[in-house]
Amino acid sequence: MSFFSVKQTRTRLNRSELAVPGSSPDFFEKAAKSDTDVIFLDLEDSVAPDDKEKARENVIKALNEIDFGKKIISVRINGLDTYYMYRDVVDVMEQGGERLDLIMIPKVGTAKDVYAVDMLVTQIENKIGRKKKIGFEMIVETALGMQNVYEIATASKRNESLHFGIADYAASTKAKTTGIGTQNPKYSVLTDPDSKGNRDVVWSDMWHYPLSRMIIAARAAGLRPVDGPFGEIKDSDAYKSSANRAAVLGCEGKWAIHPSQIDLANKIFTPPEEEVAKAKRILEAMKEAQKQGKGAASLDGRLIDLASVRQAEVMVQKAELIKK
Ligand code: GLV
Ligand code: MG
Repeated sequence: MSFFSVKQTRTRLNRSELAVPGSSPDFFEKAAKSDTDVIFLDLEDSVAPDDKEKARENVIKALNEIDFGKKIISVRINGLDTYYMYRDVVDVMEQGGERLDLIMIPKVGTAKDVYAVDMLVTQIENKIGRKKKIGFEMIVETALGMQNVYEIATASKRNESLHFGIADYAASTKAKTTGIGTQNPKYSVLTDPDSKGNRDVVWSDMWHYPLSRMIIAARAAGLRPVDGPFGEIKDSDAYKSSANRAAVLGCEGKWAIHPSQIDLANKIFTPPEEEVAKAKRILEAMKEAQKQGKGAASLDGRLIDLASVRQAEVMVQKAELIKK
């Protein structure tokens, strides 16, 4: 290990994160009763400019009146380049009571963006004597944000998670797609001809690099990486495929932009029982080996060492958190 120790953010379950437009208060109760781990009430891109003020009022009312149970509640504020953002923070924090857990900062571009919101939030917390400290989730969804992703991730002690905002990221990088999180068949590999001259077209994941880059920055900073939206709400197979890729790479969860995506995300980001059982056996086997003064052991014909133990510990801790 490096001598530099990475401080881990507070542990929270973030398998599914349901987006709810602040301008649709009819959806709030349903979201509160759903199985999502996190809800973000949106003041940004799902709200039309004429509805911004009303959406803010709806969100404040919901924070005061709706029973969200144990869910983690976030509000997505407008971007720092708008004239809505300061009032989003001030009004929601001053009038929304203690229920809010997180503020989601969209289109974050530099560490200074995070610093600016931190300054505002800190002043308000001190003024109103807020007991619970607000955490930050940041959406990495511009070329600038991706370029500065590690500095952003380490810009504030409030930071908890990074989210891959695939739709805006595509717009910002001028990627050739109009879907939200869907693929472009042109991003593919043509195989060399086989002996009969046949060739295959093998699709590749055009989002692999930016998602991986964000995950690395998040983990290096001790934050949760979370995959963003998938727009084809009727195509659950494609959602699962996208969520599985994110899970395999190390994301903690994925957004749900429709309630039907919540269960899909919860399932994919919950480690399967067989894997948890295997992780427990790895920990047991290693304990036995260590008793005999060995640094490695074998289980089911496979070598296990301290790296396997760390992987197993992560899985067992996650399973325990879910059980709670
Ligand atoms: C989310 O905000 C996105 O742009 O994908
Ligand atoms: Mg966006």
